[in-house]
Parts: sequence; C-alpha cells; structure tokens
Amino acid sequence: MSLILLTGVNGQLGWELQRTLAPLGQVVALPRAQLDLSQPEMIRTVVREYRPGIIVNPAAYTAVDKAESEPDLAHAINAVAPGVLAEEAQKIGALLVHYSTDYVFDGGNPAPYTEDDRPNPQSVYGQSKLAGEDAVRASGCAHVVLRTSWVYGVHGGNFVKTVLRLAKERNELRIVSDQFGAPTWARRLALGSAEILRQCRANPDDASRLGLFHLTAAGRTNWHEYAEEIVRLARQHDPLLRDKPIVIEAIPTSAYPLPAPRPANSVLATGRIRNAFGLALPNWQEDLAECVRELYSGTLQAE
Ligand SMILES: NC(=O)c1ccc[n+]([C@@H]2O[C@H](COP(=O)([O-])OP(=O)(O)OC[C@H]3O[C@@H](n4cnc5c(N)ncnc54)[C@H](OP(=O)(O)O)[C@@H]3O)[C@@H](O)[C@H]2O)c1
Repeated sequence: MSLILLTGVNGQLGWELQRTLAPLGQVVALPRAQLDLSQPEMIRTVVREYRPGIIVNPAAYTAVDKAESEPDLAHAINAVAPGVLAEEAQKIGALLVHYSTDYVFDGGNPAPYTEDDRPNPQSVYGQSKLAGEDAVRASGCAHVVLRTSWVYGVHGGNFVKTVLRLAKERNELRIVSDQFGAPTWARRLALGSAEILRQCRANPDDASRLGLFHLTAAGRTNWHEYAEEIVRLARQHDPLLRDKPIVIEAIPTSAYPLPAPRPANSVLATGRIRNAFGLALPNWQEDLAECVRELYSGTLQAE
C-alpha cells in the first residue's frame, strides 16, 4: 500500500481525513510545525524525504476576512504551496488531491455553478485559492481538485459552533439571508475523498477520474435558514435551549459589512463528480442533523 502524505491535520477536514484515509495505506499526517506550507523549501524537503504515492492537501489559509490584510501570506499558502506540492508530486509520479472553494465565483449567476463556469473571485482568499488551482493544473501532475463550500464539522471552528454559542448567550441573532450556498460536513467530504482515492487507484489510467470536481452537500440554503436549522436541531439535544425564546432576524449582507466580499450565490453543481465516481452527498440538512447529534453526544468531542 502506498504512503499517503496528509497536510493540515488539525483543520476541520484534515482531522477527518486522518481517520478516513487510514484504511487506504500508511498516512503520514503532518501538522504545520513539521510541514509549514509558507516555506516552499520545507515542502520540497518533506516530499522528497517521504516519497508518498498520494499527497492530500486540505491545509489552507482559510481566514477569509483576515486575508484581505494578509494577501502575501494567503497567496503563499493557498497559491504557491499547492504549486510546489504539485511540482514535487509530478517528479515522483504521486497523485495530488487538493481542495478549493466556492468563493472562486463572483456569485452573480443565479444557477448552480459548474466546473466549466468562469471563476471571478471577489476576495483575496478566493483569488489565492483560484491561483492554487491554476498552479496544480499547470504542474502537469496527476491531480484531483475538489471545490467545496461552507464546511463545518465536529473539530475546529465553524458557523455551526458559533450559532450554538450565540444561541446560548443571546435571545436575538441577526443573520444574513441573501447569500446562498450548500453547507458541507467535513466528515462527508473526507469519506468522499477516500472513495475517490480508492477509485483513482483502481483505475490509474482513467483520465475521467482526474481534474477539477465540485463536491458539496445536496440542496441549497442561506445563512439565516441554516442558523434556524442549527437552533432547531440543537433544541432536540440541549435542555437549556429547548424552551428558550430565540429570535433569528434575517438581515441583508449590506447590514453586516465584512472586509471580504462574499458571493450572493455559490451553490455548486455536482453532476461531474456523480458521473465520474458515482458520488453524490446527502442533502445538507441530513448531515447537519448527524453532526449536531454528534456534537451533543460528546463521544467525539475533540475540544
Ligand atoms: N471552511 C470552509 O467553509 C471552506 C469552504 C470552501 C472550501 N474550503 C477549503 O477546504 C479545505 C479545508 O478547509 P477547512 O475548513 O478544513 O480549513 P481549516 O479548518 O481552517 O484548517 C486549515 C488547516 O490548514 C492549516 N494551515 C494553515 N496555514 C498553514 C501553513 N502555513 N502550513 C501548514 N498548515 C497550515 C491549519 O493549521 P493550524 O491548525 O496549525 O492552524 C489548519 O490545520 C481548504 O482548502 C479550504 O480552502 C473550506
């Protein structure tokens, strides 16, 4: 079984991948201290040392608003580093699995975006992630780039945990209702990634299983409706929330200004990955219910 080099193991997705990839081979999971993606020479040294058959790169600079004031660091981690990983993968014939974002789109399209739609990122984060996609493609290495959206999970910080905290602290929440997307569970993404790797390994010469794919939960929502669903689910598990009056007010994006602009619509069409891998993730509500249940069960509480 080939060695799998995994980055970003303390992130939402990396933490899940560490577990879901284990049945596929020996996973060398390196935290930032051992593989700092802002250091290209360190990346080259590590890849040359381990000579993995597969590199999986969920690590990224994901602070969307902070990136507006740290464009160089965001570019180093999200654009330069994937390019270096890809160059090294090409040299040793490794397969690279890399992750990108719905924020590569400007959000002006009312329909779900396909892989063939033209990206037009509006934020530094989105621009840096698109540059990362381009660098991976330009390297010529065998790659699978998975664009996903609105990631949440049991490990790490995310919108679900923020809403759960605010619902405990306050009686009133104000959440934007004019940005649409698909909340996607890190666990489900990690399981999907493992299935993709299994199929790529079993069909190494099949080019239809390589390239750019959208992988998100099914369905669409906005942040306000998403918050309402989080609170509705939490009331089933949390006695402190069960009868607490909580008003969730729907507000426009203009009433909640942030440094980085967000796309109004970033729902991604997932037909290509269904055709190539037979992979379709469940509806966002289904996975959210499972994740909230797990957060309250405490069995997998990592923090
Ligand atoms: N979160 C979302 O809503 C979302 C939406 C669409 C796409 N994505 C993409 O999905 C992927 C996974 O996202 P996620 O939510 O799991 O991210 P996350 O929870 O923010 O984790 C990011 C990871 O990257 C690591 N990292 C940051 N800078 C690094 C560096 N210089 N060297 C090495 N590691 C570094 C972090 O390490 P530390 O633990 O040391 O900080 C962390 O483990 C990313 O490619 C992201 O762009 C995410």
